[in-house]
Amino acid sequence: MVRVLGIETSCDETGIAIYDSHLGLMADHLHSQIKLHNEYGGVVPELASRDHIRRISPLIKDTLQTANCALSDLSAIAYTAGPGLAGALLVGASVAEALAFALDIPALPIHHLEGHLLSPCLSTTPPQFPFVALLVSGGHSQFMRVDSPGRYELLGESVDDAAGEAFDKTAKLLGLPYPGGPHIAKLATLGNDQRFNFPRPMIHSGDLMMSFSGLKTAVSLVVAQHTEKDYADIAASFEAAIVDTLCSKAAKALEKTQLKQLVIAGGVGANLKLRERLGTTIRGLGGEVFYPPLHLCTDNGAMIAFAGAQKILLQQKPPINHSFSIYPRWDLQAYSDLYRT
Ligand code: KG4
Ligand code: ZN
Repeated sequence: MVRVLGIETSCDETGIAIYDSHLGLMADHLHSQIKLHNEYGGVVPELASRDHIRRISPLIKDTLQTANCALSDLSAIAYTAGPGLAGALLVGASVAEALAFALDIPALPIHHLEGHLLSPCLSTTPPQFPFVALLVSGGHSQFMRVDSPGRYELLGESVDDAAGEAFDKTAKLLGLPYPGGPHIAKLATLGNDQRFNFPRPMIHSGDLMMSFSGLKTAVSLVVAQHTEKDYADIAASFEAAIVDTLCSKAAKALEKTQLKQLVIAGGVGANLKLRERLGTTIRGLGGEVFYPPLHLCTDNGAMIAFAGAQKILLQQKPPINHSFSIYPRWDLQAYSDLYRT
């Protein structure tokens, strides 16, 4: 049995959770900084780090209390070591490493995207390995082949903006708050998604590459020529373009890999239109779509605790040293090399 405390501080949420290999997720606490950054239209790194410092210790105490668990019951501490904001990552990393050192248990640096990729395994109907994962967050739009925890192959990705970034930038054009995804989705329910024919970038490229920056430009041109009463139609038409593109590429990913299971991870996976359309498209191909529980789509400590537990269960040894690093930019390959099997 392993019981892991997970710490996520890569961006603007402090996420703390405890995952137990027998009991499952025992507690999962989150403090979001959305309100703190709202007036700046994006995350301010220095404010993010300071807030993580304020929140992290009380949140760890609350999480232990919810799980009815003592520090001495923990087998390891997993933390997001990258990619992310350097100052924010340092808060989680130093607390995790110090606590693990004091308790004489392993500290496990975890790749943030691995957390997202494995998060659907925390749902009541988890996928079986191997599967194709579509990771759609504020920083990434990628298709991955996942053979097991720690074995990932990049199949295709966005050559420019990530899907979440396109949502955020379009929201800004429409005067909506950050993060834009949920606001665009809400406004889109009131609009006509057929009114503006926005581009479906690289939809016929035959591969799994994507591009979303042209879409943002097309939206900005339309916004400049219309007034606020047209914004719901713009939001709906924009959302439809993203959903169409992701659905078409997802179908191609299953066809190329001959796999039947598609896992969706990352913040944009919370989009209900996307969920609805992917469900119909993939089921139509005899496949199945898996999601993390809705509250685990965006950043959280649970996915980090879970990923850490897999490292121990698969005996993928963490690097043993008494110093530690954070990796603001980090590809999954370099991360896999960190762990010796
Ligand atoms: O994975 P995440 O929480 O953070 C990282 O980027 O790692 O993803 C955040 C992104 C933001 O761009 C946000 O606008 C988008 O996910 N998002 C959504 C929705 N909820 C969050 N995009 C579309 N529809 C949503 N309902
Ligand atoms: Zn994330």
